[in-house]
Amino acid sequence: MKIAIISDIHGNLEALKSTLEDIKSRSVDKIYCLGDIIAKGTHQQECLDLVRQYCEVIIKGNCDEYFTSDIDISTKSSEEVRRILWNHKKINEESKAFLRTLPFCHEFYLSGRLIRLIHAHPESISKFIGNIDYLGKLYELLLPSENTVSNEKADVVIYGHIHTPFIQKIYNRFIINPGSLGNSIDVFRNKEKDGDILNTTTANYLILEGNLESKNMEDPISFDLVSVAYDIDKELDSNKDNIEFDSYATELKNGQYRDMEKIYRSFEARGIKKEDI
Ligand SMILES: [Fe+2]
Repeated sequence: MKIAIISDIHGNLEALKSTLEDIKSRSVDKIYCLGDIIAKGTHQQECLDLVRQYCEVIIKGNCDEYFTSDIDISTKSSEEVRRILWNHKKINEESKAFLRTLPFCHEFYLSGRLIRLIHAHPESISKFIGNIDYLGKLYELLLPSENTVSNEKADVVIYGHIHTPFIQKIYNRFIINPGSLGNSIDVFRNKEKDGDILNTTTANYLILEGNLESKNMEDPISFDLVSVAYDIDKELDSNKDNIEFDSYATELKNGQYRDMEKIYRSFEARGIKKEDI
């Protein structure tokens, strides 16, 4: 059984179409989605319609929650209100109602391993655990919570949210992030050290292969991180109405998060100095 896991599409239609073609060419049996289908890019409705058409499992992301709930805009800055209103206009009411019903977590067995899918963290839809976070933080990702389906620690936890792909192995368990399909980011940037930009700005996803519902850990299993190039200029040409066009274009073309000062502050909190990056 081959299962493609996609995440963080963020309204990027060209990236989604190219990825779906790639998935088709690899004889994948099922597609699951880790959420954040909407927000950022302009093609949120089209992306959601395609995800609903192709994905057997869809879990909720923080943007799916935030932009479909009633927000008290009196407490928000005028810039944030503009952002909320623009994103609210991008999908219809039926789609919003659908996104509100999405589950927090999905679990299944593959080749004897308990696989847990969450968007960000077992206890929170938006808590950020990065690929370089310290051991205790990474371990939190493997734990059950009142939001998870079972009360077991996961053998394999697969989560989205950070927009950077990685596979980590601790305590005889795996932590995997497929990266972002539509908004790939690498926050560790240094002109002296950076490799080719296409190692970041492609659409990223994961293929899992194993024996579905098997409880036998001797069955083989594999995790493949896949990168697919797509037409970024074409996507940006159709984003002329995007109220955050410049920061969106920076992210798509440079793979760099729009607010690096915020990133540097979070590095500092993790004991990483800006000059060491
Ligand atoms: Fe996201």
